[in-house]
Amino acid sequence: MTTKTITLVTGANRGMGLEIVKELGAAGQTVIMGARDLIKGQAAAKDLITAGYDVEPVQLDITDSESISNAVKFINDEYGRLDILINNAGASFDNFEAPSTIDMDKIRKEFELNVFGTIDNTQQFIPLLKNSKQAKIINISSMMGSLTNALDPKSSVYNFSSMGYQATKSAVNMFTIQLAKEFKNNNVPITVNAIDPGLVATEFGGTSAESSADMGAHTVEIGVARTIELATSPDNNITATFSNLDGEVKW
Ligand SMILES: NC(=O)c1ccc[n+]([C@@H]2O[C@H](COP(=O)([O-])OP(=O)(O)OC[C@H]3O[C@@H](n4cnc5c(N)ncnc54)[C@H](OP(=O)(O)O)[C@@H]3O)[C@@H](O)[C@H]2O)c1
Repeated sequence: MTTKTITLVTGANRGMGLEIVKELGAAGQTVIMGARDLIKGQAAAKDLITAGYDVEPVQLDITDSESISNAVKFINDEYGRLDILINNAGASFDNFEAPSTIDMDKIRKEFELNVFGTIDNTQQFIPLLKNSKQAKIINISSMMGSLTNALDPKSSVYNFSSMGYQATKSAVNMFTIQLAKEFKNNNVPITVNAIDPGLVATEFGGTSAESSADMGAHTVEIGVARTIELATSPDNNITATFSNLDGEVKW
């Protein structure tokens, strides 16, 4: 069995997911690229494989339980374990809609993907993570999910309003805390941490990377930097944290 770190990134065919794959591949990890559309995953993996990265695409739609179990079986058959799970796939479908009238279908879609999909994906991969000596779960959250910042007039989050999306990231944060505590209390050697990437120039929210960059969004390299730091650290002793490049983020 390989001694290389085996990492799965969800939503890995573009945006920050693809950048995480590139940087962890460059760091010598075996990276499995989850993509809900396998053709897109294969297209994204092609150049990396040609460049010598040890990456492999797998079909993985986190809102489809059967797709998750197929990916678990594939990784189990191929590698027998998983060392790092990076729950990156996510989307926002509401933007500055009044909470009093926001479209219920948009909130339901956001919860299906960002919350229920992330939890289902995590639960199904836990047995493979338990086959690792020291495993890590990294949830790509957002400062937009911080309740403390939403109430702080000095925070950039204060004047922002995507209530549905923000609530999903608050829920991901609570999942992070409770799962981390469950593992810690039962001496399961899996850490669980949430990351805030900041505002990042991708196609997130249906915008173009260029237009978000014009609005001051960071590069994907900066957006993934804290995730890469955690995923490449030889230590695995912090759990139940919410952080970005500047340090701790208030829940
Ligand atoms: N960009 C920001 O400013 C920002 C800030 C804070 C947090 N975040 C978080 O960072 C993460 C990555 O965002 P990003 O900016 O890189 O977004 P992005 O460029 O829009 O990429 C999102 C990725 O998620 C995938 N995805 C969507 N639905 C999926 C599903 N059902 N199953 C599996 N994969 C699915 C997409 O696949 P397709 O190509 O098939 O659509 C795509 O690969 C998200 O969780 C987001 O909430 C982003």
